[in-house]
Amino acid sequence: MALFPTYLRNGIRPLRGKGAWLEDEQGHAYLDFTSGLGVTNLGHGHPRVQQAVEEQVSRLWHVSNLFEAPWQEQAAQLLQHAGGLERVFFCNSGAEANEAAIKLARRRAHQQGIGQPEIITFTSSFHGRTLATLTATGQEKVKTDCGPYPAGFISVPFNDLAALEAAVNDQTAGVMLELVQGEGGLIPAEPAFVQGVEKLCREKNLLFMVDEVQTGIGRTGHLFAYQGYGVKPDVVTLAKGLGNGLPIGAMMGKEELAEYFGPGSHASTFGGNPVSLAAAAAVLTEMKEADWPRWAGSLGKWIKERLQEELRDHPWVKEIRGMGLMIGVQLDRPVADWIVKSREKGLLVLQAGPEVLRLLPPLIIREKEAEQAVDILVNGLWELQEVSLDESVSGV
Ligand SMILES: Cc1ncc(COP(=O)(O)O)c(C=O)c1O
Repeated sequence: MALFPTYLRNGIRPLRGKGAWLEDEQGHAYLDFTSGLGVTNLGHGHPRVQQAVEEQVSRLWHVSNLFEAPWQEQAAQLLQHAGGLERVFFCNSGAEANEAAIKLARRRAHQQGIGQPEIITFTSSFHGRTLATLTATGQEKVKTDCGPYPAGFISVPFNDLAALEAAVNDQTAGVMLELVQGEGGLIPAEPAFVQGVEKLCREKNLLFMVDEVQTGIGRTGHLFAYQGYGVKPDVVTLAKGLGNGLPIGAMMGKEELAEYFGPGSHASTFGGNPVSLAAAAAVLTEMKEADWPRWAGSLGKWIKERLQEELRDHPWVKEIRGMGLMIGVQLDRPVADWIVKSREKGLLVLQAGPEVLRLLPPLIIREKEAEQAVDILVNGLWELQEVSLDESVSGV
């Protein structure tokens, strides 16, 4: 074994992918409702993205940020037009995008005379695995034995505006929020809460930062989830779906924040490399022209409603929730057996915590594929319940 054992593998050895389908070394085809953890939003091997990447690879791979970067400018303009935030910094991952946001919030706070800036985040949130972002994360399980932890982060209960108001003090620099908590169990923020957070940030001069690493790039039915909440954050972080599989992260921010990120204040060797940026520009163009976010919204609603209908009377199901094609099924027990069962029937799904099944299909799935997945999930869960009934009757 040559690798650090940081990952629990699922035993599948993927060989190739096309659209919503993944094929393993033995030739088994799986309907992939994991999308590489919410990354391949346009499916595997999307022709437009592939062509853009191939063309770029044939021309130039890397030069560093000492050079003019028209590929960055082009993708930044696409983001700007789509999201209304004027400035973009490119990096390589979600954690790095959040690091940039945290650093920007701190730099702004220092220049406003705040000596020990604090960022407020929320319980069951997830913001990454670097030391600052895991400290910002509102889940203890990612923090084991990594101390000492950086100072300057407070966590308050999610969807609780009064708790947030009570936590704000004269050192508070900003608030970082996921609009649908992904790793935390597919928990949507309540609209009144999100609007309250924005109002509070305006009143107290706090940076309103939204982590759209998982919700962004069409997943929730809008290109950015904040567009469905009627708010305009100061800072939005992206990664995952932006490169459809090529590593990229981005922090978008309002024009007035540009002064806090001048030359030398932040950098990344690989950030904004031409190949990832070619992928991002193709992704953003495709999202706009084909309006995949709208499709994700309507198909996601259909899947959620079908699951709610078919599993309404299932005794293990506590709640079916989510937004767009980011759907969670909360059971009263671990979902591990259901995941294995689904895999045996040809469907790959995820979990978010031990008791929540997480569906993150690519946005390009067709109705037929969605139907197939729903049938597999529904039949699988009823079959598992029958087996457990038989076992309890026979005393196994
Ligand atoms: C909301 C959110 N923020 C940040 C991250 C970290 O992203 P990365 O793994 O690219 O560093 C994730 C990853 O799952 C995420 O879901």
